[in-house]
Amino acid sequence: MARGAANVSDYRALARARLPHFLFEYLDGGSYDEVTLRRNVEDLQSVALRQRVLRDVSSIELSAELLGKRWALPVGLGPVGLSGLYARRGEVQAASAAASANVPMVLSTVSACSLREVAASGHVPWYQLYFVKDRGFVASMIQTAKEAGCEALFLTVDLAVPGSRYRDARAAGGGLQRMIELMARPGWLWDVGVNGRPHSLGNLEPVVGKRAPLSDFQAWIHANFDPSVSWKDVEWVKAKWGGPLIIKGILDPDDARAVIDSGANGIVVSNHGGRQLDGVLSSARALPRVADLVAGRIPILADGGVRSGLDVVRMLALGADFVLLGRAWAYALASSGQAGVAHVLKLIDAEMRVAMALTGCTTIGEIGKDTLDERGNQATF
Ligand SMILES: Cc1cc2nc3c(=O)[nH]c(=O)nc-3n(C[C@H](O)[C@H](O)[C@H](O)COP(=O)(O)O)c2cc1C
Repeated sequence: MARGAANVSDYRALARARLPHFLFEYLDGGSYDEVTLRRNVEDLQSVALRQRVLRDVSSIELSAELLGKRWALPVGLGPVGLSGLYARRGEVQAASAAASANVPMVLSTVSACSLREVAASGHVPWYQLYFVKDRGFVASMIQTAKEAGCEALFLTVDLAVPGSRYRDARAAGGGLQRMIELMARPGWLWDVGVNGRPHSLGNLEPVVGKRAPLSDFQAWIHANFDPSVSWKDVEWVKAKWGGPLIIKGILDPDDARAVIDSGANGIVVSNHGGRQLDGVLSSARALPRVADLVAGRIPILADGGVRSGLDVVRMLALGADFVLLGRAWAYALASSGQAGVAHVLKLIDAEMRVAMALTGCTTIGEIGKDTLDERGNQATF
């Protein structure tokens, strides 16, 4: 944990001070004018909770079940690409923090450390799959996930085409400017630049080789992600995988219905942290209608703008069964490695306890519509 970091905002400031500029911009930014990115945070923060008192909250139980396991919190580390470049072998550090806290982690397809490397550290994460044009390669990634012993596959469906991120475009460029940015961050340069090699996309090495992803990462995504992907491909993945399949990137109740029809085992309400279609609803606003449609038939996970334990309670009250962190854990990893991620999970635990105590909920199952104060939420929802 970093000295003086009291919340996720503090970790964001520390990450900004430690990462080279272009890497911080990649982590922090969203698409276009970042309207949805801001909405994710602001809509969630504006959700009014309903204070209840004198309900004996001396014992509060935070554990929750998802996909056949009981976790310490209804919270997991969501897939965040390139995290292995925020700290030395970053995904391995994050997986250790998640395992120690007994929360799940979903490893991104575009992680620096491969699934095999993370699994070899003793903690097998869930795996997030992107669809690339080469179906043979998608099949081989599914096979690798099976061989590694992954217990769930998250298929991300909101990246048929990549959203434009102005911050990445502005921060792009190589040569002298990049060199100056790197020299301005000696801590990162030593930890990751020198000692954190290789700087490749571990899972994609069979197709992109060992080249550093930073220069041509976006170009590779543009060239290789598959815009023709459809519900038929979900069937194909389901058949090839044969285990629990979660569809990530749903905002619309009609799409949620299609997820249920596809036979998938879960859904992540998400707009990719405001990094894809700018102007879409925040996750907080999209969630209640999706939850009404799903009506408990499959678990609902949600992400987008979660920066505290209060936000987790808000997401649960809006209809989620489980919540994924994105930037929140990645800022902490960038600032303080495994200890930072562990600290953020502790903060979330502590903040959830206060929020639950003061809304009169002693178990996760008690958090629901009743935990919201409708008078405070009419303007937003
Ligand atoms: C830097 C960065 C990289 C991401 N990479 C992936 C990815 O590889 N796969 C994926 O499904 N989602 C990815 N996401 C989206 C996150 O899983 C999650 O939906 C989002 O971060 C939630 O919003 P929040 O960061 O505001 O909490 C990424 C998000 C960020 C910020």
